[in-house]
Amino acid sequence: MVKAVVLGAAGGIGQPLSLLLKVSPLVDELALYDVVNSPGVAADLSHISSPAKVTGYLPKDDGLKNTLEGADVVVIPAGIPRKPGMTRDDLFKINAGIVRDLVTGVAKYCPKAFVLIISNPVNSTVPIAAEILKANNVFDPSRLFGVTTLDVVRASTFVAEITGVEDSRTIVVPVVGGHSGDTIVPLLSLAKPSVSIPADKLDGLVNRIQFGGDEVVKAKDGAGSATLSMAFAGFRFAEAVIKAVRGEKGIVEPSYVYLPGVPGGEEIAKAVGVDFFAVPVELGPNGVAKATNPFGLINEAEKKLLEVAIKGLKTNIDKGVEFASAEP
Ligand code: NAD
Ligand code: LMR
Repeated sequence: MVKAVVLGAAGGIGQPLSLLLKVSPLVDELALYDVVNSPGVAADLSHISSPAKVTGYLPKDDGLKNTLEGADVVVIPAGIPRKPGMTRDDLFKINAGIVRDLVTGVAKYCPKAFVLIISNPVNSTVPIAAEILKANNVFDPSRLFGVTTLDVVRASTFVAEITGVEDSRTIVVPVVGGHSGDTIVPLLSLAKPSVSIPADKLDGLVNRIQFGGDEVVKAKDGAGSATLSMAFAGFRFAEAVIKAVRGEKGIVEPSYVYLPGVPGGEEIAKAVGVDFFAVPVELGPNGVAKATNPFGLINEAEKKLLEVAIKGLKTNIDKGVEFASAEP
């Protein structure tokens, strides 16, 4: 039996993500939490003729506790999104506290759950979550994931557009580093099957993958950031975790994890010089089964992109750790 939870379920990502989880045959129970409208979203979804039992809670009457108790997978898209002109780091002021409080709930009510963080800035909110879990003596690095799947999805889509491949799902591009602008590093040289990008299109493609989020923020013109593509990506990652827990082998998805604490991660952490970093991870029954290190094989241009990414990540990670270590 799998109980999935969405925290921030009434939002732009939360609603379509909850819909996808409700219709998934892999989910038996779905609990939705938000500061507004979650009982309404739950009532709406509960009329869908799929097996998952849906409940919705607000903060009152121990809502967070009731949402989280017994949870196996907790997906967190709670928090404010960007408007044009903002960076993801501009969201830190509000979202850091939201993530801190929700993850404190996870530590109390479902410390063994897999925690999937979508709330931005992911580069900092995941370190915050790690610190909170650590402070509560329940941190298992193999169960904490920053969701960077949208970068991977964008890479496949944009590469397919350039190469003319009809089904973008057949193209797998490892995207590593973090989840903001130039901390996002697509390793196109490692795409499978291998792809040939015309030289005059390469820089533009890398830039589009790194700044795909801005493209949506601009198009939505003040009405928020990516929600539907993010729901798709968040569901893809949640589904991968659940499938691996149920015993399916060979599932690999990039994710932003605490490298020193996961199998295979220590050596990568030493190589990149930061503790939180997205790499392709093989998923297993306990979360991260193995972090894989692709860096020996990358080309010079990608090495340069990595250097820039690592610099930015250091600042973002320190900011998150510092915030979580301070008194609330
Ligand atoms: P939204 O404003 O539409 O929805 C956010 C929801 O969170 C709202 O319903 C709000 O009521 C709720 N919320 C706020 N505080 C809460 C709390 N303390 N507890 C529970 N719920 C709370 O925003 P959105 O478009 O769904 O985006 C949500 C977050 O996801 C943003 O931070 C955004 O930047 C991020 N995001 C991340 C990725 C990624 O790739 N990781 C992609 C897209 C968006
Ligand atoms: C994205 O990549 O679409 C998200 O991180 C949202 C944003 O702010 O761009």
